[in-house]
Amino acid sequence: MAVKFLVRGIQAALALLLAALAAALAGLWAAAAFFAALLALVPAGYYLYCLLRLRTLAARDPGAAADFVFGAGAWLAGALQHREEILPFLKSFPEPPRAVGEIGRAQGGTLALLCAASAQDALVISLDLPGAAFSGELSALNRAFWRRPLLRAMKGPGRELVLLDGDSRSSESLRRFGEALGGRRLDLLFIDGDHSYEGVKADYERYSGFVRPGGVIAFHDIQPCAARPGVEVSRFWRDYPLPGTRTEYVKDRAQDGMGIGAVRLPG
Ligand SMILES: C[S@@+](CC[C@H](N)C(=O)[O-])C[C@H]1O[C@@H](n2cnc3c(N)ncnc32)[C@H](O)[C@@H]1O
Repeated sequence: MAVKFLVRGIQAALALLLAALAAALAGLWAAAAFFAALLALVPAGYYLYCLLRLRTLAARDPGAAADFVFGAGAWLAGALQHREEILPFLKSFPEPPRAVGEIGRAQGGTLALLCAASAQDALVISLDLPGAAFSGELSALNRAFWRRPLLRAMKGPGRELVLLDGDSRSSESLRRFGEALGGRRLDLLFIDGDHSYEGVKADYERYSGFVRPGGVIAFHDIQPCAARPGVEVSRFWRDYPLPGTRTEYVKDRAQDGMGIGAVRLPG
């Protein structure tokens, strides 16, 4: 679906480009300017389309959100996930989580999915360090004027969304995260930030205290990743003595990287 959408967009852009060139060659400058202006509107149209779709999807189930995040919305709100892993994971909750935390949001694809899977009045907190690896951010301007409205649209009408920017390892981020929770405990914490062994360990050790007994902590990239030696979540998942019941969501045991490991804390 994502490819079909891209092909349609390219076809539309090419048609407008050709129309503008043909009009210019024929000396029809007003028509050429008109088609060129329409061409410039293609990215803006795509942005608006994503914004509106995200707003409506937030009220729907994670399956519909996944169709968008892995389909037509992939260029602005894509998730660095396998659909076959994150969707069964999100559907594994008997009750929609009412308080959700995320470390590492990049373009916000997982945030859109987490919102769609959570209760309509859930509190969702997302923490990211702009400019860190895989953040997908271009500049502070991009973050403020393009990214933020998209991220805000993901929450839908009833949820409370707190977007935090900062290093998860700083005490300031930890304090702001706790402040955003306001005494509540998380039902779900999704850790997908710094993928080094020390990074994921620090995130677990610092933020797991915010998760309620019986709540779930999930880690992305539990599969060994030969292509990127700095990605060491698999070692953490294998060696660290996590309490509770573990479940793995892995599309293909032979795949390099990816995979979600979830641990349900003792109730
Ligand atoms: C792999 S991406 C997250 C992908 C996202 N969860 C998804 O599936 O679409 C990792 C993110 O973690 C963030 N990150 C890396 N180190 C971090 C840190 N120390 N604190 C907070 N965020 C961090 C990066 O900025 C990046 O956006």
